[in-house]
Amino acid sequence: MRVALLTGGGDCPGLNAVIYAAVKKGINHYGDEFIGFLNGWRGVLENDFVPLTLENTDGIQLRGGTILHSSRTNVRKVPGGLDKVQEVIKANKIEALIVLGGDDTQSVTQYLCENGIQGVGVPKTIDNDISGTDATFGYDTAVSIATEAVDRIHTTADSHNRVIVIEVMGRDAGWIAYASGIAGGAHVVLVPEKKIDIDHVCALLKYNYDHGKHYGVVVVAEGCHLPEEGQVTGSQQVDSFGHVRLSGIGEALAELIEKKSGYETRSVNLGHTQRGGVPTAYDRLLGQRYGLHAIDMVHQKKWGRIAVLRGADITDIPIKEAIATNRRLDQRFFDVIHDLEAKV
Ligand code: F6P
Repeated sequence: MRVALLTGGGDCPGLNAVIYAAVKKGINHYGDEFIGFLNGWRGVLENDFVPLTLENTDGIQLRGGTILHSSRTNVRKVPGGLDKVQEVIKANKIEALIVLGGDDTQSVTQYLCENGIQGVGVPKTIDNDISGTDATFGYDTAVSIATEAVDRIHTTADSHNRVIVIEVMGRDAGWIAYASGIAGGAHVVLVPEKKIDIDHVCALLKYNYDHGKHYGVVVVAEGCHLPEEGQVTGSQQVDSFGHVRLSGIGEALAELIEKKSGYETRSVNLGHTQRGGVPTAYDRLLGQRYGLHAIDMVHQKKWGRIAVLRGADITDIPIKEAIATNRRLDQRFFDVIHDLEAKV
């Protein structure tokens, strides 16, 4: 078959691992031919692509980012977008599309599949918030990076007797904050699923100062709401899927904590460092397993479905199901956070 791949939305460690495995099995096992559209859906609209071969994908499973580049392009918002996509797919004799992306990108895959395009999805996001899968690739790497940062903040916060707030990614769900906060021994872990109680935050920090530890580490997800201000945005611009750019809650929260508690408080925003660099072994492996499954899905004509991890198995579910709601933290995870907090 002639198969096209694309990567949409925020980049994510492990994208190249998916591409590598799908191309390798597709060529060696099925005798497929591949192209890769550049810059996500934009590349399809602009008919911009590169051939993908065993040679030019060799070794890419070790690399971060995406060799196909990415963009946040919403085909539904582009006048004549559907017609253009259908025309480009037809002109290039593409028989199947493998789309690597999060809920926004996959909402486009779903829309196109409803309109006759033969596509399958692979769930990508460091935020780990796609429903129906136990894990998205990239999340493990982001957690490792954030945990290392939290570890490092302990010693400098301790040296200066400060509180330091670390802002991590997580627009709708607090998976990165939860995992890096708990693994890194943060004293306060704040996730978007729960309202911030600033008095409780200050009480947890006071516990430290009252018990001989004159510093505090707070991890906050970018998507949390401050009691009065709500979400903190880096810019008022919205992307083509209607999302504002979140950024700055760490700094705003640090100011609030300092004002309320009197403790000197600083903040650091980990931002895109969480998406950069090489994937962990876990994400390289998960990405490659997803890639192998994706090319099998193509040959089984499982259009409109997305690969998912269930326990130890890779299987697939309808894209519609995976993007219907965000997979968010629930009481089980809130209990972990609560049970590991100081008793105040
Ligand atoms: O969806 C993943 C994510 O990393 C979110 O956590 C974050 O809000 C967003 O992407 C940032 O996107 P961009 O790099 O386009 O600003």
